[in-house]
This record gives sequence, C-alpha cells and structure tokens, in this order.
Amino acid sequence: MARYFKYKSAAEVVEDAKRLGHELRVSEDFSPLFQPLTIGRRTVGNRLVVQPMEGCDGTLDGRPDELTYRRYVRFGAGGAKIIWGEATAIADEARMNPRQLWLHDGSESEIARMLDGCRNAHREAEGNDDGLLIGLQLTHSGRFSCRKPLLATHDPVLDPLTMDKSLGRRVAPEDSLLTDDDLKRIEDQYLVAARKAVAMGVDFLDIKQCHRYLLSELLAARNRPGDYGGSLENRTRLVRNVLGRIREEFPNVLLATRMNVFDGVPHRGEGEDFIGVPVPHALPLVTAFGTNLDNPAEEDLSEPLQVVRWLRDWGVRLINVTAGNPYANPHFVRPAEFPPIDGYHSPEHPLLGVLRHFRLTRAVQEAVPDVAVVGSGYSWLQDFAPHAAAANIASGHAALAGFGRATLSQPDFARQLRDTGQFDRKRVCRTFSYCTNLMRTKDHPLGQYATGCPPFDKEVYGPLWKEAEPKLTKKK
Ligand SMILES: Cc1cc2nc3c(=O)[nH]c(=O)nc-3n(C[C@H](O)[C@H](O)[C@H](O)COP(=O)(O)O)c2cc1C
Repeated sequence: MARYFKYKSAAEVVEDAKRLGHELRVSEDFSPLFQPLTIGRRTVGNRLVVQPMEGCDGTLDGRPDELTYRRYVRFGAGGAKIIWGEATAIADEARMNPRQLWLHDGSESEIARMLDGCRNAHREAEGNDDGLLIGLQLTHSGRFSCRKPLLATHDPVLDPLTMDKSLGRRVAPEDSLLTDDDLKRIEDQYLVAARKAVAMGVDFLDIKQCHRYLLSELLAARNRPGDYGGSLENRTRLVRNVLGRIREEFPNVLLATRMNVFDGVPHRGEGEDFIGVPVPHALPLVTAFGTNLDNPAEEDLSEPLQVVRWLRDWGVRLINVTAGNPYANPHFVRPAEFPPIDGYHSPEHPLLGVLRHFRLTRAVQEAVPDVAVVGSGYSWLQDFAPHAAAANIASGHAALAGFGRATLSQPDFARQLRDTGQFDRKRVCRTFSYCTNLMRTKDHPLGQYATGCPPFDKEVYGPLWKEAEPKLTKKK
C-alpha cells in the first residue's frame, strides 16, 4: 500500500501540502508553544495539551486500575500544562466499553486519586504545579454505548452500521429512541457527575460533544421530533441546559467542550486494496453536522460556528475541536499512516486529514477569538508536529495544540521539546494504529483489552499486543 510519510524536514511537508493544493505553515521557533495563556480566570503555563486518551483499562465498576494510574502519572510528569482527562461516563449504561471510567459514588475517590497522582507527578517533575490545568471529559456514549445503543435519532446511514448486541442485530428504523424525558434524566445525570468532578477539584469540565456519541449525535438530529431535535436551538438544548445548570451551581468552574465541527459520511473498505469509500447514502444527507449535506466530502461550518458562539455566551471558555467518527470514518478523526487491522486504508493522503483539522480549528478560533481553542490531529506529522503547532499558535489559528496518539508513545513530549528542541526521535508515534487495534479487541475476560503503545511502551503493551493480535486477526 502507498506510504505517505517520507519527510526529512518540515519544509518537505510544506512542499507536499503545496503539491496537494494547500498551504501549511511551519515554524522553527517553538517559543509560542511555551507562552502562558489566560483562559477564563485561569492561566495555563504552556500551549501543549495531552488530549483525552482513554486506555480502556478501568475496572468493571468504572474505577481506574493500575494502568490508568500509570498513564496519568506519566502524563502529569510529561510537562504539558493541560491534561485533558479521558472520556468518563456519567452512567453505567452510557459507557462505550466495559472498562471505561464511570463517575459514581463508588469510583469518585479513586478517580480523584488518579487526578491527584497526575498533579503530584507534575509537581515532582517540574518543582511546582503552576499553570497546570487538569480536566475531565464527561461522556454519554449514546449510539455507541456498549450494552445497548441509546439513540438520539435514527441515522439512515449509521443505523445499518450500528450493532445492537442486546438484540443480536443492527439498529432498525422501528427501534425506539431516547425520549425527551430520558434526555431530561440524562441532564440530571450530567449534573450529578459534574458535582462529583467539581468536588474532586478538577480545573475544568468538558461536556463532550464529539465523535458521534450522544451529544454529538444530538447536534445533527435534524430529523428528531420534540424538544431536542429539528431546529439548531433544540439540538443544542441538552448541552445548553447542562452548562447552564453547572454554571448556576459552580460559577467559578472552567467550562470546556470537545466537539465535532464536521461529521462527514461513514466509509467502508472496498476492493482488493480495501480502500475506504463512502457507504451508499441518499442525498441530501440528514444527520451529519458541519457537513455539506449535498456533498458530504465538504464541510459546511455555518451551524458549528453558530454553536461555538452560543457556547461562548453560555460560559464555555475552552473548546477542543475535532471531527469524524472513530467507528465509521476514523480517517477524519485520526489521520494515520497504517490503518487498524479491521479498518479500511485511507481514501485520502493523511496530510489532507491533518490540514482539515487545522482548517476547522482555525475557523472556530476566528469565530470566537476570546475562547481558547485546541486543535487536534497532530500526531501523523511525527517529528514535524511541533513546527506546525508553533506556526498555528503564532498566527492565531489556535490557542493550544492537542496531542493524542503521540502522548501514548511519548508522554513526556512537552519536556523533550522544551529541553532538547525536538521530540525524542526513538519514541515518536508513527501512527501504526496499534493503540486502535488494542482498543478494538474485545475478546478478553473483562470484555476489552487495555490500550497503549506496543512499539514504544513495549514493556507493558508489547505482551498485551502479542496476546491480542491473533484474536483481532481472526475476527477480521
Ligand atoms: C486509544 C485512543 C483513545 C482515545 N480516547 C479518547 C477520549 O477518551 N476522548 C476523546 O475525545 N478522544 C479520544 N481519542 C481521540 C484522540 O483524543 C485524538 O483526537 C485523535 O487520536 C487524533 O489526534 P492525534 O492525531 O494527535 O492522535 C482517542 C484516540 C485513541 C487512539
């Protein structure tokens, strides 16, 4: 299969972008990455963000386990000043996998201990925790809840791709949706979880609206009847109510959201080479957010930009921009050199995926200049990610740069960059997709393999991958 990443310098990446018809800015001056930034009432010490990266390694009752604690110690000690705590479910039935963190009476003290461990590791490594913000991402997995899909709406394209394990078949048009009363109860569940998170001293709270989990699906629920569907005002009702209620109770808490501003259309592999192509779909699409409904390869940001302005008015001061659906079109979420074992080959040059992320982030940052906007999708750029991040920040196209897969291979990427002027070349994420492969392997006594970086965090994840690989290959 085609290999794309062949660059020896940042200038070569710029050249390749030009060849593909795009402008990419890079800078050799990394000092913008180490400037402090005021966000609401807080000041963050640098512009480097550890993205929410779940390890699927909690206990069955939602508590962090050995590997979860380990991950947050490593993130804390790594020098980035925003650690964006991973997807943490607000209810058992809202979990995406049986080992996802779940915030409840029985887990709150251990999740608090995990975040304290992160802070202590930072203090130990840096001498203090000045300018460190640690947040938590509160999630409801909606359609992708592992026990049973909990649907905000019927999506004519995604329904036939969504397995309902409880029924042993795919979602069908007659399957019931969450009712408006269910959604009101879910708002209450968000409040209960938010109170716990605030009590444990999180620096910010992310009400997650991305990757087609519940609140992301709602953003696109044009065809849903009732108070939570149809108009954009209705589609944002749940997030508005939750943010409003949190703000009323905790006026000082820093409100954040990670959101999809482009959903695109689901893809599947076809042909001998198993290249991703859009699944059959009727036009105009109905339930894709931020997407040109007549030509879903293109973004249409009119609604997302309206929503980010509203979010600012509702008190959100930190927005983490992302796109796509990790199950149905992962190349939009995380441009990769190598697809996961059970996934399709990228239908586009991964650099185009990176540039899409940059374009989306810039549009959001320009729409809400007074909000701190985090960009995603940097890992594919490998050694040259800092060059692009520094240029994006220097030109005001984003306030912060978020690193996802790169943090699993090199949790101390921020310190490496600060102290040596580059990432540690021996542990740069090559987007092999091992982390995704582990995440997709369910044949485990707990129903889910823990994930991390088998090639570069070998001691822990090497043996896990050795065990998981034949199971995933067999499934394929
Ligand atoms: C193993 C793994 C776990 C992830 N967990 C989360 C998560 O908990 N919440 C979230 O919003 N995104 C999650 N993501 C998406 C990443 O945060 C990030 O957006 C994506 O990997 C693209 O960024 P990158 O190119 O820097 O990796 C996860 C991705 C991977 C591969």
